[in-house]
Amino acid sequence: LKLRAPGVGGELCITYDDINNAIHEARRHVGHPHREIHELSSDLPKPKHIASAALVLEEATRILAQRYSLSYDAIVNGLPQIDTSKTAVKAICPTFLKPVKCEISRYRTLTGMCNNLENPSWGSARSAMLRYLPPAYSDGISVPRRAVDGSELPTPRAISFVMHHDVSQHDQQLCNILVAWGQMIDHDMTFASPTLDEKRMDIECCKYPHQLRHPNCMPIDIPQDDPFYKFFNKKCMDFARTLPGMRPGCTLGPRFQTNQISSYIDGNFIYGSQLEDANRLRQFRGGFLKSAPLYRELGLKDILPMKTVDPDVGCSARPRNVYCFDAGDERVNEQLVLSVMHTIWMREHNRIAEALGQINPHWDDETIYQETRHIVIAELQHITYKEFVPTILGTEMMRKYGLELLSHGYYDGYDPKINAGVRSAFQTSAFRFGHSLLPDVTERYNKFHDKLESIRLSLQLRKPYDLYKPGIIDSFLMGLVNQQSNRMDPEVTTEVTNHLFEKPGERFGMDLAALNIQRSREHGNPGYNYYREYCGLPKARDFYDLIGIMPNTTVQKYSQLYKHVDDIDLWSAGISEYHLPNAVVGPTFACLIAEHFTNIRRGDRFWYENGGWPSSFSPEQLQEIRNVQLCRVLCENADEMDTIQLDAMLVAHPQGCLLLITVKPENYNLSLNVKPENYNLSPTVKPENYNLNPTVKPENYNLSLNVKPENFNLSPTVKPENYNLSPTVKPENYSLSPTVKKKKF
Ligand code: HEM
Repeated sequence: LKLRAPGVGGELCITYDDINNAIHEARRHVGHPHREIHELSSDLPKPKHIASAALVLEEATRILAQRYSLSYDAIVNGLPQIDTSKTAVKAICPTFLKPVKCEISRYRTLTGMCNNLENPSWGSARSAMLRYLPPAYSDGISVPRRAVDGSELPTPRAISFVMHHDVSQHDQQLCNILVAWGQMIDHDMTFASPTLDEKRMDIECCKYPHQLRHPNCMPIDIPQDDPFYKFFNKKCMDFARTLPGMRPGCTLGPRFQTNQISSYIDGNFIYGSQLEDANRLRQFRGGFLKSAPLYRELGLKDILPMKTVDPDVGCSARPRNVYCFDAGDERVNEQLVLSVMHTIWMREHNRIAEALGQINPHWDDETIYQETRHIVIAELQHITYKEFVPTILGTEMMRKYGLELLSHGYYDGYDPKINAGVRSAFQTSAFRFGHSLLPDVTERYNKFHDKLESIRLSLQLRKPYDLYKPGIIDSFLMGLVNQQSNRMDPEVTTEVTNHLFEKPGERFGMDLAALNIQRSREHGNPGYNYYREYCGLPKARDFYDLIGIMPNTTVQKYSQLYKHVDDIDLWSAGISEYHLPNAVVGPTFACLIAEHFTNIRRGDRFWYENGGWPSSFSPEQLQEIRNVQLCRVLCENADEMDTIQLDAMLVAHPQGCLLLITVKPENYNLSLNVKPENYNLSPTVKPENYNLNPTVKPENYNLSLNVKPENFNLSPTVKPENYNLSPTVKPENYSLSPTVKKKKF
């Protein structure tokens, strides 16, 4: 039971007693309160409780590393191998990380727990983020990396204003809804635990002298000659470290971060990631989610419910008696069009729930809710892999990583050996590529695709109050499918690099580019060049090797900012790479993003294309899910949308979106074909036979909803020849057909 620690002459042994002593000492150092230990045995310990235990482990690691002069390799690879369950660590290891017994059920858990039956916490909420590469902490444990020559890296704010100052070019092909989808789906997959104060607000660092700051403070230095902040005499930007997390088994080793939500695409931004949130969001009637029926008498659809609990968390400049919105993810109010996307998915849930309830009057609230959630998640997965991921990665990467969806039959790629958990570099850098696409303004359009208004992006951050105006949601939706996004390039709009979360009365905010860079460093991620190597791309030997990979001016500026090519930060260089053919991102981000989307498909037991599980759709239902398109979801859930391009994420023409289909119910079968005659429960599947309890055993469980091909036909109206093309749009003018990809514009 001893670990022979590599490093010091190979002779060193660390015993359980050594670990116990280190843990006791660490607890004295960090002052671990008893109440928090108690909380760890609850099913749902809060991130701050997990963090306080994780800090003890981090401190114990530091004590052992110093006491035994452990090498980097011993800290990173040796210590985590020790089985800590027989040591004092056991008392501070959260119960939810200990082995649990899983039961097979039709529906996903809210936390993602037990998706993987052999490793139940894989990909689940509150599990530790994984890594593509070993951590690059300068002390091997938790201190952010330094330059290769041991000096300080340039401050992230300098990198932001030198490399990423805004010159705002539009992308000729991407609609803003692609950007909104990116953020929305990110909020389904990743959420690092921020350090918050007692009122759950971001902690402030800059206003306190160094010795009085919260231990997680790591504020960003603003250079004296900053071209923007110098006018406000700002020298310091608030930044706090992500709370540390624990790995399964509560092992020792370098600092890890936790993902608060499950990494699978499972709609948790709609439904919440824990029971308390899910219950708060449900009507407990007819399977519906709560909504605000403010303008029903005007014939308008409901909006999101109001956020009356902790009303100021994630919400800014709230007028008296006006509230932000409540949804499954607390970042719902981060920017206005994100709240619009949440609204669409709340409506889509309620639309399907209503249809299922009408078809199956004998289903109870729980059955309708869960079946609807099941379908909605499938829709999200399908649209993401059919419309979003191919646009970001391009056809070549889709093929290389086997990411293409099947057009028929079940997918046999499920692999329980794949850990679908989020990788830190994906969360801190690669999937933040979207920050480069953000436009300066959000545009509103009317249903005839005429522009109505442009509103500065920074005015819409954490202030979604406009959505209370009747009918306005449609105009933002029309804006999302008409407005071009910004181009994927090193430039990032000053709306988020100078004005992020600007407070009322102040003329400056924070800098998102600087936050991204600081975040990746504090999570222990190595520099860009190492990820090139990881991805099988040639590692740059010097700055000039980067020529041809990114613009010459970018390379030149890097050579002036950084001392060594290995020092360059991943997010900064990732958004600067030339994009792959037919793709949005360059080769390094494409590789990291492709790997992530491979993992969360192949590692998701509930993946909608999977067959043979209680959760599987019948072949006929699966074919219906495959007909789902984003344009359909938008049209169904807008108040009144007459025309929209088929490929909603792509601008159909450089001058604006062409109107490819006229969306009238009689022209376009928008339903999931949930018509009574098609979606009946089989007569043998009565509620009493339809055991929804998690103990459901496969043999008791009629997997098919008895939807036979003959019952589940595509509606005869959904034939290409029935798509009513807008009379003004002639086939010969179409630059975009569903099969024609943007390359051909
Ligand atoms: C106006 C739009 C947006 C705003 C205001 C915004 C703002 C932010 C902020 C403040 C953070 C946390 C920064 C930190 O302290 O580390 C963040 C994180 C992140 N953002 Fe954005 N973002 C926007 C759009 C997007 C888009 C379009 C994408 C992707 C396509 C994206 C992907 C991410 C990811 C992956 C994270 C990490 C989230 C986590 O796991 O905690 N964001 N964003």
